[in-house]
Amino acid sequence: MRGQKQTAANHPLLFHPDEIPPPDPCPPEQQARSLDSPVWTDNKARLIMHYLHYFVLLTKHGTYIDGFAGPQSECETDSWAAKLVLASEPRWIRHFHLCDRSRAQVGRLYELQDGQPERDDDGRKLNRKIKVYPGDFNVEVDKILNAGTISEREATFCLLDQRTFECRWETLQKLAAYKRSGHKIELFYFLANGWLERALAAQKDTAVLARWWGRSDWTDLRSMTRDQRRDVLVERIRRELGYKSVKAWPIFERENGGGIMYYMIHATDHPEAPKFMRRAYRRAVCPLEPVEQLRLALFTEAEDLEMSAMPGEPSLS
Ligand SMILES: C[S@@+](CC[C@H](N)C(=O)[O-])C[C@H]1O[C@@H](n2cnc3c(N)ncnc32)[C@H](O)[C@@H]1O
Repeated sequence: MRGQKQTAANHPLLFHPDEIPPPDPCPPEQQARSLDSPVWTDNKARLIMHYLHYFVLLTKHGTYIDGFAGPQSECETDSWAAKLVLASEPRWIRHFHLCDRSRAQVGRLYELQDGQPERDDDGRKLNRKIKVYPGDFNVEVDKILNAGTISEREATFCLLDQRTFECRWETLQKLAAYKRSGHKIELFYFLANGWLERALAAQKDTAVLARWWGRSDWTDLRSMTRDQRRDVLVERIRRELGYKSVKAWPIFERENGGGIMYYMIHATDHPEAPKFMRRAYRRAVCPLEPVEQLRLALFTEAEDLEMSAMPGEPSLS
């Protein structure tokens, strides 16, 4: 029986020393509040991976769409969202749709696809479908949604990690409108912050801005503060796209500081999702917690919901 291993001295042990997990190097939740900027550009992919790891413990299935999926840095792939999500255990997300417009990036996506194991860590055959879409996500999104493979009940998540203006508003509309019942496709939408004024001024093709913003009043963005732009977009996603919860999570320039480079705007209808995202945000740099520990923390504690927001964090209400 598990837990009845014998030592050399023949004393029964509850656990063999090899089975005892190493101590968690991350601080407990309460102390983690003192971290003001726990997620920075190098670990934004870990934020997504942590969140999805928590979510699939609830759903036990899922579809992951990554519209701008090639690695941010061509050499540093340990902070590549698609790679981290594919590697995350348990491998319960079964459908992956990975899109990129750059030929070189598409090559990296095919390499990632080819390098996937056929079996999980316990030797069970993995039943996963990974599809790569070379092209503009604003176009390819129709193929993904019209293929009929995403059912109304399928928990579906879409990462939109654009650099600045690549993801058109109509693409968000299509994703948000896809499901007729149940929870809408969740969005993780990256809004550039640190260089948005410069990018707005430098973009000479104003049609790009109009398509990105989806309305003719994009010109107002130039005179807004950064906080105003963030708040206007959050409100539009809530009102125009109809998500119940829309929260902007700041992504900093570097570890423990610098300016806010992006906001990761998380749009969801699922009542548990904001709580999961808060936990993922606070623990993005930490190793994933053991599954049993997580189940207790995620599904039996009301405590997380009551915790007040850290500086810069959106509130859960
Ligand atoms: C910020 S990177 C994505 C980073 C990635 N999510 C990661 O975790 O490392 C943006 C990617 O979007 C791609 N891209 C730019 N415009 C695109 C478009 N219209 N459709 C699809 N991909 C696009 C770029 O080639 C680049 O690989």
